[in-house]
Amino acid sequence: MVREIVVYPDKRLKLISKEVVSFDGALHDLLDDMYDTMRARNGVGLAAIQVGFDVRALIINIPLEAADGEHDQPKDNTLEMINPVILEKDGSEVFQEGCLSVPGVYEEVERAKHVKVEYYDRDGKHHTLEDDDFLAIAIQHETDHLDGKVFIEKLSYIKRKKFEKEWRRRAKEA
Ligand code: CO
Repeated sequence: MVREIVVYPDKRLKLISKEVVSFDGALHDLLDDMYDTMRARNGVGLAAIQVGFDVRALIINIPLEAADGEHDQPKDNTLEMINPVILEKDGSEVFQEGCLSVPGVYEEVERAKHVKVEYYDRDGKHHTLEDDDFLAIAIQHETDHLDGKVFIEKLSYIKRKKFEKEWRRRAKEA
């Protein structure tokens, strides 16, 4: 089921999400709805708080490029991370990011190049993963959501001011 996206500056985006304790049907339904919602909005990742649930769950699905040049995000290619913890991060990289909670805004953000993360899957199985590519960026962006942070908070003071002004102007027009 496609759920409504929580849009900036909704205060729920500032919540520190809670640890998942039961890996049950309700969690699976939430993860399935998050996938449907991410697909419907053409996103590559989504944290539970973005559909209004303050629990430490996120999904990432980096589009695969098919032979015909089409991009696809099959469900079985979805990385589901429950209670993720970044164990190591190093290096730095600047990458243009966007967020379904801040629609239409794309800004360059500096993050670690390499991360090592531990997490649980939907069945409560423990995993660790390392990446130094786009996935590493996505993991940092999505885990920030679990700690109540949105990517625009990482912009420089001047860029942030410009964003807030533009965002208010857009809200008035809507
Ligand atoms: Co986001």
